[in-house]
Amino acid sequence: MSYSATPYMLDHGSGYGLVSRGFHWLMALLLTWQFLTALLHVIDRQRAVSAMAWSTHHDVGFLLFVLVLLRGLWGLSNAGRRPAHAGRLGRLASLGHLALYALMAYVPAVALLRQFGSARAFSPFGIPLMKGGGEKIGWMTELGSASHALAAWALLALIGGHLAMVMVHHFVWKDETAARMVG
Ligand code: HEM
Ligand code: HEM
Repeated sequence: MSYSATPYMLDHGSGYGLVSRGFHWLMALLLTWQFLTALLHVIDRQRAVSAMAWSTHHDVGFLLFVLVLLRGLWGLSNAGRRPAHAGRLGRLASLGHLALYALMAYVPAVALLRQFGSARAFSPFGIPLMKGGGEKIGWMTELGSASHALAAWALLALIGGHLAMVMVHHFVWKDETAARMVG
């Protein structure tokens, strides 16, 4: 009898495979931490716990940016195999997922752009990504300051909508949607 791990790694008609689930839950975990660091920063940035949490915000944000790019590429390569979203509600769900991707990419991207424009060095996890120095680039810092936080809170609201829809599927319509990513 031959055994192949491939079906469990790839997405299929009735659910997401191991890789897609790995991306989904790892990013859900890191995003939860990221919003927690932002919330503590807003509430009282002077407290030791807030400062400790905030000290990870830039690095984890960079990691989230790398992960969303990889996840997007993986999603594209699995697009034909993913569970179908049929009908008007299905199209709305696909649009919602697309909006989640757009914001998950835009939020860290515009922060990294601002970091670059600020001409300050940036070495996430010790990787010398931006060496700093040189001229400040005004439009980059302005765009980042005008939209990073705003887009991030919009992302949080959209995640709230996503969670609400998963709950409606599971507890009201009692269908198999939650099992695609969970069970
Ligand atoms: C998906 C990733 C990220 C999320 C969800 C996120 C979330 C947030 C949120 C909600 C705020 C608003 C806090 C407030 O209202 O004061 C914020 C602020 C901030 N973030 Fe992020 N962030 C991410 C990535 C990054 C990255 C990659 C950097 C830097 C390289 C960064 C740097 C900052 C800075 C400097 C602020 C304070 C200034 C501002 O409000 O724009 N963030 N972030
Ligand atoms: C930070 C939090 C979250 C984000 C950003 C997020 C994002 C997404 C995205 C983009 C998809 C589309 C499939 C993909 O490309 O991976 C998806 C699917 C899904 N998510 Fe989440 N998710 C989050 C948290 C959760 C949580 C906490 C649950 C469960 C309670 C959940 C349950 C699901 C389910 C069941 C699907 C499949 C839906 C379908 O195929 O129509 N998600 N999620």
